[in-house]
Amino acid sequence: MPRDADNEAHWHAIAQRYECEPGPINLENGYFGRMSRAVQAQYLEHISFINRSNAVHVRQRFEQGENNELRRQLAGLIDVDPESVAFTRNATEALQSLIRNYNRLQPGDQVLISDLEYDTVKGAMRWLAATRGVEVIEVAHTHPASFDSLVHTYHDAFAQYPRLKLMALTHVTHRTGLVMPVAAIAKAARERAIDVILDGAHALGQVEFNLAELGIQFAGFNLHKWIGAPLTLGFLYIAPERLADIDPDMGEFHYPTTDVRARTSYSTP
Ligand SMILES: Cc1ncc(COP(=O)(O)O)c(C=O)c1O
Repeated sequence: MPRDADNEAHWHAIAQRYECEPGPINLENGYFGRMSRAVQAQYLEHISFINRSNAVHVRQRFEQGENNELRRQLAGLIDVDPESVAFTRNATEALQSLIRNYNRLQPGDQVLISDLEYDTVKGAMRWLAATRGVEVIEVAHTHPASFDSLVHTYHDAFAQYPRLKLMALTHVTHRTGLVMPVAAIAKAARERAIDVILDGAHALGQVEFNLAELGIQFAGFNLHKWIGAPLTLGFLYIAPERLADIDPDMGEFHYPTTDVRARTSYSTP
């Protein structure tokens, strides 16, 4: 079926999948996207089941088995190895764990953020100044931006601040809706040995991407914006060959240090 904007039959079928309040329809997925009727029905069914079966199911079947299958499906969403992803409660938790536990910073190093980053990411990067003794460099892009202007801003910053070691980069920014030229920026960063932590909160489900092609080793996502999963779900990605550069989260010990899941807090799943 053609999916043109004016194909009423197609959009009617989509609309039927969602419950709506009377009045204006809120299409905003920026905060979170609503669940479809089918997802909501499954969700309620599972909540009810977990309530009946309690720890017997969660400890034995979920933690030992179903969890692994979910992780495999999750990795399939972004076409990576299941061993490289770990569930979090949201993108913020994923990104903050990566920033907090990145262990290659020395006092005097520099870290980079731009005006397009999300506030919790900016906050975490600024926190590194107090805890790691690094200098936080904040650049402002030219707006409206172009591919060239965005890439130039980073080239200039990399040349001006030679002690840069780490930067945050937002794939699709919530501030202007801009899709960043991630591959070009990550390539320039790599040439300067600067690591990139990618904020994929608005990318997953909105744009097609492949992390290996983008040249990204560290990233955080959520599933409750454009994927339409229940609140509160997210995950982090660490390229297997870079796992040792992110410490276990706050001395986490339930998984071996060779397991990416040690980079998140262990709790009732
Ligand atoms: C660009 C960006 N990054 C990160 C986040 C945080 O996502 P979460 O609510 O999953 O922590 C948001 C949420 O609006 C966002 O827009």
